[in-house]
Amino acid sequence: MLRYFTTGESHGEALVAVLSGLPAGLKVDQAFLDRELWRRQQGYGRGGRMKIERDTAHILSGVRHGITIGSPISILLENRDWKNWQESLPVGEGDPSKHKAVKSPRPGHADLAGALKYNFPEARYVLERASARESAARVAIGAVAKVFLGELGIGVLSHVISVGNAALGDVEVPWDRIRPLAEREEILLSCADPGIEQRMKEEVDKALRTGDSVGGVFEVVAHGVPPGLGTYAQWDERLDALLAGAVMSLQAVKAVEIGVGVSAAASPGSAVHDEIAYDAAGGYTGFSRRGNHAGGIEGGISNGEEIRVRGYLKPISTLRRPLQSVDFATREPVKAAYERSDVCVVPAAGVAAEAMVALTLARCALEKFGGDSMGETLRNFKGYCEQIKNY
Ligand SMILES: Cc1cc2nc3c(=O)[nH]c(=O)nc-3n(C[C@H](O)[C@H](O)[C@H](O)COP(=O)(O)O)c2cc1C
Repeated sequence: MLRYFTTGESHGEALVAVLSGLPAGLKVDQAFLDRELWRRQQGYGRGGRMKIERDTAHILSGVRHGITIGSPISILLENRDWKNWQESLPVGEGDPSKHKAVKSPRPGHADLAGALKYNFPEARYVLERASARESAARVAIGAVAKVFLGELGIGVLSHVISVGNAALGDVEVPWDRIRPLAEREEILLSCADPGIEQRMKEEVDKALRTGDSVGGVFEVVAHGVPPGLGTYAQWDERLDALLAGAVMSLQAVKAVEIGVGVSAAASPGSAVHDEIAYDAAGGYTGFSRRGNHAGGIEGGISNGEEIRVRGYLKPISTLRRPLQSVDFATREPVKAAYERSDVCVVPAAGVAAEAMVALTLARCALEKFGGDSMGETLRNFKGYCEQIKNY
């Protein structure tokens, strides 16, 4: 079973991610891992931290001579900012006068709920773990999952649908227009339409000008997924449920949509369901669809079409023009705390969501095909492909 978790605080020494359950014999491409980490750090509207951090994946275990060995993989990401925080956030007791307390909780952040839950007098420790810095660790192991999926011919990428009020219309952006976005050397807002991307930039500029923040929508697309991942047999094995949970678990994602899930609720069935056709030459099975409103999943199972999952991001909660709050100590009304912050993170959240989708699909693929070595997994996968081709 593929399992994973992360550790680390935003301004601590490092993040660590552990990924357990991958077969042995998968070639791990260090440059690809670092490129994925770089992609998560990009996008117009990121805060100052992105200028000092340049993440690299330091693989500690589970990979030897460039290939996985079936043992748990652990990856360390150094926090370069740690040097500025060693005295204020030490592991040992340290000097309490050096602590940097977060004295008034930010509406929309974990500050108040976390301080109440863990019984902290202020929100420093809450922010340290709730922060989306953690998503970098997910991107590192997500990149390994992508390498695994690549061996099965599956690609996972994202693009941005909207930032604030600037949005792509109701169009399905094809894979061939999404792929080049990930190859760009300068990432603005990762939108496939350059005109709309400029309008998205204006939305970020407006937020920057007014001390505000802005959210938006990204879409993750998984290309080349065979039919048969996930199942309706049990509620917690449904692929749609697993993907929704995985994407929703990302910081600031407040809604998840599969295919045209939201507008489908107000449309007649005849306009929503994807009619079935057959052409023996095409795809994994020859069965095809006239559209992909279902986003590649029916009955909790991948149906052989592209999987399309959208994440809806609320605007960032740390505002340069802070909202009203209360001082933890005095209970007097004050402005919410401000700490260097991003203003727009929609493209970066898309990259983190790619990692979550890749980890989820890798888990389902391993549940379906099994295998302790890549040879065994690929043999099982090819056998299944033959079976559905000859169905
Ligand atoms: C890539 C990424 C970067 C983020 N950067 C910030 C940030 O700089 N400042 C901030 O207040 N929130 C940021 N967030 C959002 C917060 O982490 C998130 O809103 C907070 O942890 C509360 O969790 P919730 O929004 O899921 O309820 C970011 C989210 C993502 C996905």
